Amino acid sequence: MNAITSAPAVQTVHVPLAERAYDILIGPGLIARAGAEIASRLKGRKAAVVTDENVAPLYLEALAASLDAAGIVSAEVVLPAGEKTKSFEHLMTVCDRVLEARVERNDCVIALGGGVIGDLSGFAAGIVRRGVRFVQVPTSLLAQVDSSVGGKTGINSRHGKNLIGVFHQPDLVLADTDVLNTLSEREFRAGYAEVAKYGLIDKPDFFTWLETNWKSVFTGGFARIEAIAASCQAKADVVVADERETGQRALLNLGHTFGHALEAATAYDSRRLVHGEGVSIGMVLAHEFSARMNLASPDDARRVERHLKEVGLPTRMSDIPGELPPAETLMEAIAQDKKVKSGKLTFILTRGIGQSFVADDVPASEVISFLREKHA
Ligand SMILES: NC(=O)c1ccc[n+]([C@@H]2O[C@H](COP(=O)([O-])OP(=O)(O)OC[C@H]3O[C@@H](n4cnc5c(N)ncnc54)[C@H](O)[C@@H]3O)[C@@H](O)[C@H]2O)c1
Ligand SMILES: [Zn+2]
Repeated sequence: MNAITSAPAVQTVHVPLAERAYDILIGPGLIARAGAEIASRLKGRKAAVVTDENVAPLYLEALAASLDAAGIVSAEVVLPAGEKTKSFEHLMTVCDRVLEARVERNDCVIALGGGVIGDLSGFAAGIVRRGVRFVQVPTSLLAQVDSSVGGKTGINSRHGKNLIGVFHQPDLVLADTDVLNTLSEREFRAGYAEVAKYGLIDKPDFFTWLETNWKSVFTGGFARIEAIAASCQAKADVVVADERETGQRALLNLGHTFGHALEAATAYDSRRLVHGEGVSIGMVLAHEFSARMNLASPDDARRVERHLKEVGLPTRMSDIPGELPPAETLMEAIAQDKKVKSGKLTFILTRGIGQSFVADDVPASEVISFLREKHA
């Protein structure tokens, strides 16, 4: 019997991308099983584990022991935690260490951490020797439901977030749901905003299920595994339909245009706002803006806000501590994030809960007057 079927609590989401197909395993105890799972799928017996200073003391030893037990020799790279680590400097460190460890094309880079570590080490895996194997062991909720799936990797530039990178799909994703117990409640909530997002994009029943079951998702156990698996499946479906974001993959950006503008407005200061919190406010704004454009009922926006608020997420610009720049500055950030074609913007709007769509003709003038109202 193989390892997957012997542990019924573990769910598998398959991502059918032809020769780049891979599995996402979701459930408890997966770090302890990582060595065996990797050895059964990849030919190489060398690995470079990349992690950050918060995650290393918690899980690095257990992962290294599991690799060792499976006959995989591993090197370790421990980087500072935080968004600033997605830089050329740290990319260079990771590439050098991967080469020093003599990781060949059939060997792998393993990302043990949140989205920062996943994005950075995935990029390194994509470019060292023109691509080595890549395994994600996401440890934040956001990484488990979003960044570890789909193959987008990269670093930030002084021109903006995620502007330098490659598509490099992982060969395996191991989402150990136990490790979320050490994540701060705030980071867990932020990741939850992305879980709710999948319901709001096109799964109204999932959103309704979350409204009833969110407390169990937070406390752990079966509901948590269910929610993460449903999220990974939702993301995988979108990625398989549009791997390189030429169309429908943009739906994953629901709430992100407003959210990114708020992140920029707070200078990516995580004490004021983290990504998922920006997405939470952004999703409420996207629903309110859709109502303002007579596309959806204002009741839907109220329902979205009620749920996110109940969970403890910020839902209004005024929930962000400190002063925000004026609406005009937020608009500039939006215009930088998007291509503005003759006064029109592309936005993810909605006709109701779970009925999002890509709108590519949103008048910039409507957005600015909406922002002025909301800002007041
Ligand atoms: N590639 C993609 O498709 C994609 C999608 C969404 C987001 N992202 C990127 O992901 C990043 C955000 O990811 P994130 O929210 O995971 O941030 P993060 O990697 O900074 O992790 C958040 C914090 O939690 C800590 N942490 C992680 N796991 C922990 C655990 N189990 N126990 C205790 N502490 C833990 C980290 O050290 C960090 O301090 C951003 O850079 C964003 O651009 C990428
Ligand atoms: Zn996001």
